[in-house]
Amino acid sequence: MIAKALARCAASMIAAALLMVAPAEAKTWDENYFPNYTVYDQDGNSYKFYDDLVRGKIVVANFIYTTCTDICGLATARMAQVIEGLGDRMGEEIFVYSITLTPEIDTPETLKKFTTAFGEVDGWKFLTGDPEEMKELRWKLGERSRFLGEHRSDMVMGNDTDGYWRRISLMGNLDSVTREILDLDPQFSENSQTKIARLGNQQRHALSHRPGEGLFQKACSGCHKIGGGDRIGPDLYDVSAKRGHDWLMRVLIEPAKLRDEGDPLFTELDAQYPNVLMPYLDLSEADARDVLKYIDWRSAEVREIRIWDQAILDAAGAHDAGAHVHEAGAHAHEAEADAHDAEAHAHDAGAHSHGAEPDSHVTGADPNG
Ligand code: HEC
Repeated sequence: MIAKALARCAASMIAAALLMVAPAEAKTWDENYFPNYTVYDQDGNSYKFYDDLVRGKIVVANFIYTTCTDICGLATARMAQVIEGLGDRMGEEIFVYSITLTPEIDTPETLKKFTTAFGEVDGWKFLTGDPEEMKELRWKLGERSRFLGEHRSDMVMGNDTDGYWRRISLMGNLDSVTREILDLDPQFSENSQTKIARLGNQQRHALSHRPGEGLFQKACSGCHKIGGGDRIGPDLYDVSAKRGHDWLMRVLIEPAKLRDEGDPLFTELDAQYPNVLMPYLDLSEADARDVLKYIDWRSAEVREIRIWDQAILDAAGAHDAGAHVHEAGAHAHEAEADAHDAEAHAHDAGAHSHGAEPDSHVTGADPNG
């Protein structure tokens, strides 16, 4: 009897000791913290906020509203760029929620239009719900602005497994933002780092000395490409050749005014891109001028690259012109592949110049200088 009681006592002492050695780490933001309200995504699917969308997941959340004429469009465009960098982990371990600040207006249908403009991705949900509940939800997620204009372009990210949450700006370097999100996953390996290095998009531009380029990357590239087609807004390739300088300055500095005045050209553009607006970005005249100069510069460069590409294709074609028509076609494809290789090298060169290693064989070939 006594032996048994002693054994029991010893066992409980050991258990107590173990508990003291390894206390369960208290999570600050756990299931008791997050409300488990019903929320709806852009397709009208309903979820329990904590159980279905947070529990056991890596979560990134930001706050938008679809009628916003300034920062939300840009923030969403940048979120789309970050998501591109997260690759196939999106919808697997990592989930992104863009939560509306105006649930009264943003029904699933309204959100759907907005989502379509930015491209739908597995694991990226635009959420709405009961206005009172959504208010509490965003307060709990740290978005505590008192009125819409005050709301920030930050996002909140966390890993529910370890309860580690933090806030980060979406306006910083996008590669770093992507890194920070991946870092929330303890499984994040060296392998994934090379993936980001390959993305390397924003990093190169941070080194630029061209006025306007940094601004373009930060504030415009989420929505516009220069050559290569439309993104969320129109392709800006050679836009100066198509439009007057003063009109372009107004698009950049006072888009809302241009819209309100019913400017015919801008109204037509609005109609062509109905789900997103060119945002008011609070640019100064100098900023606007610089960014237009950069668009001109980059357009000229894209034009040169196209001519160069064509010349290679022509050369390949001329070389085999004559009897072997089919073969010539095949060679042209090879040449095209080479041209892509050259482009890849040029990108490498961009990365090298970071480490101040002149890489002479590609000088002049880097489309980003
Ligand atoms: C949230 C997405 C978004 C961002 C960010 C954005 N734009 Fe736009 N932009 C648009 C859309 C959409 C249009 C088409 C007009 C409309 O629907 O408001 C447009 C139109 C334009 C036009 C007129 C194009 C034409 O064919 O005449 C120019 C120029 C332009 N944007 C430049 C910029 C520059 C420069 C920046 C960065 C400083 C920028 N935009 C940032 C979405 C965006």
